[in-house]
Amino acid sequence: MVCRICNSEAREILDLGFSPPANSLLKSRADPQESYPLVVETCDACGNMQLRDCLSAHDLYKNYLYATPDSKLLSQHYERLLEYLSSNGYLHTDSVVVEVGSNVGLFLKYLKPHVGRVLGVDPAANICEIARASGVDTICDFFDPNSAKAIRKQVGATDVIVARHCFAHNCDPHVMVQAAVSLLGESGFFVIENAYALNTIANNEFDQIYHEHMFYFSIRSMEALLRLHGMRLVDLFLSSIHGGSIVFVAQRAGSGKLPKATVDHYRAIEEKELTTDAYQRFASNAFAIREQLRRLIDLLRSDGKTVYTYGATAKGNTLLNFLGLTSQDIPLCVDNTPTKQGRFLPRSLIEVISEEQAATDPPDYYLLTAWNYKDEIIEKVRQRGNQHSEFIIPIPFPHIVEARH
Ligand code: TMP
Repeated sequence: MVCRICNSEAREILDLGFSPPANSLLKSRADPQESYPLVVETCDACGNMQLRDCLSAHDLYKNYLYATPDSKLLSQHYERLLEYLSSNGYLHTDSVVVEVGSNVGLFLKYLKPHVGRVLGVDPAANICEIARASGVDTICDFFDPNSAKAIRKQVGATDVIVARHCFAHNCDPHVMVQAAVSLLGESGFFVIENAYALNTIANNEFDQIYHEHMFYFSIRSMEALLRLHGMRLVDLFLSSIHGGSIVFVAQRAGSGKLPKATVDHYRAIEEKELTTDAYQRFASNAFAIREQLRRLIDLLRSDGKTVYTYGATAKGNTLLNFLGLTSQDIPLCVDNTPTKQGRFLPRSLIEVISEEQAATDPPDYYLLTAWNYKDEIIEKVRQRGNQHSEFIIPIPFPHIVEARH
């Protein structure tokens, strides 16, 4: 297929088969559900890594249940991000900040006392309601040149636009950059946080592949995209959050700021490590993990052990469906998001229960499908008195974190 950044030919690197939209949890096991291909390809010309087949945004967001979890790790990340943006002069106490894909408004709520004004933009009506109820002014819309025009009328030229873990959620990557260019003030900053392709590949995070993630950005591909819109990458910040994320800071190319040395430094590392061989290893490791994990779970079950999953995550659904695991193998999934509880994971039809419910009769093993919160979740489970359940961590290769008896 064609690269959706630069229009060159893209080539397939991994085919995970068919999966339903990963965040569309079902109200009942009998609900109809469709599955769509999950095929990843790369473009040698600009370094883009993309999902071959995109679902319409409407299908993905009409019944959206993802709400940013309340997490210690996330709060620490917000603190670090604010520190980084302020100390480098990207954010000031009078800055007007617009967050795209602001979800329930947790980041803006954190930012609000430190800046001039905050405004969220999110397409999911149910999620916007939650943000507004918590005091975060939120526009319910997709971020595109049309909504950007309306936002500019409301708040004026924006100093900082933030897009955290949503920039890859649009099949056409040019739309969001065009919208940002039209909304940003002359020397404003566009801050994009996303899973970093180099970490995704190096850590075998094939479960990060699902229909919302239509792109897997690297420094190279992001620079290629920005260049097409008169923007330039001026700085970046690497974080271990969500299995390895990158925060890109972009500005209009003509605004005079030169890229920091950090950009050259990490671009050189990326060039050495994000190679054709690395893509091939990533693909073959995905199949090796499938074999190992499936064997491990089958063995545990034949030994009479119970296994639940922890985290009704989108990546968990990719993993379960790729392995062919269903409620026959894993009866329950634990998750602290109230909107997910009582629902069923797509295709595997595993019922989601609360952490409190799970604590009354914990399983022998938790398959940690929210591995990005590993330390926080294991600590919480132990502190609540469960010293029994062991944790199966699926990546970079399946391993068990044993209980301390
Ligand atoms: P995410 O990786 O896409 O952010 O999803 C994490 C999921 O894990 C989310 O549905 C909430 C759930 N979760 C818990 O159930 N307990 C926890 O302590 C944390 C941090 C997350």
